[in-house]
Amino acid sequence: MADPFLWIVDNELVIPGVRDARTFLHVSDAHLCVSDEGSAPAEAAEAAGWDARWMKTKEEFARHFGEPFGEAQRVSTREAFDRILAWAREEGPEALLLSGDNLERMHPAGERYLSRRLREYGGPFLCVPGNHEAEACPGAWESGVRTLEYGDFRIVAVDDRLMTVSDEALDRLAALAAEGLPMILVCHVPVAASGNREKMRRFGGYFAIDGETADGNGRRFVRFLEEADAVRMVLCGHIHGYSDTEIVPGKRQITASQGMIGFVHRLTVRGGAA
Ligand SMILES: [Fe+2]
Repeated sequence: MADPFLWIVDNELVIPGVRDARTFLHVSDAHLCVSDEGSAPAEAAEAAGWDARWMKTKEEFARHFGEPFGEAQRVSTREAFDRILAWAREEGPEALLLSGDNLERMHPAGERYLSRRLREYGGPFLCVPGNHEAEACPGAWESGVRTLEYGDFRIVAVDDRLMTVSDEALDRLAALAAEGLPMILVCHVPVAASGNREKMRRFGGYFAIDGETADGNGRRFVRFLEEADAVRMVLCGHIHGYSDTEIVPGKRQITASQGMIGFVHRLTVRGGAA
């Protein structure tokens, strides 16, 4: 029987020229709140407080977006993440893609826990930081643009947690795109671009990098996603609800809902006619 905790949404991305179909699991906003034997009493109490707050808030998000929420979802952030990882291990995807707010905030027990769990998971993974996190977390993610290479396409991790992207990252993205290999971008904050501006704006200004922002790097990032032929899809999170919009016609941006309620986006990339 299907686990009532998990909510799996399937999508497919066709990239002409891709030889082997590959499946990825995309998870976002796990917001892990963790304490362990190394936590001081005050740290443990603080983590328990964050977890209690999410128990309420994640339900409010789920109700707001009309997403499944029941008894099965009333588990701690830690249990939620463990159950997703246990299932992912059985699934054995090409890679696990974690699109940010993996931790509720940077805290030593949470960082220890996340890096240990990912090591135990054993398979390939790619994490980006969210707005609750720092630019690097040893064992989970490093700073800068990073890629997973598959020969006929690549997955590219970009840090946009501060609602902008650094000059260095933008230059690196442009260089990767110039190579012409199709790419799927993974970042935390979605964009409001020419094709999805009205829909994304409805979530509120805090929830997307708008192509009309006053920030030059933010505008350059959105224009890059709109115009670079190499970019075929954007995977992100941040809004705590599932959405599937088009940056420009034919180029989808998918926000994974919150991992805290058992949401997993399963993406299959395959070849074929566009
Ligand atoms: Fe979040």
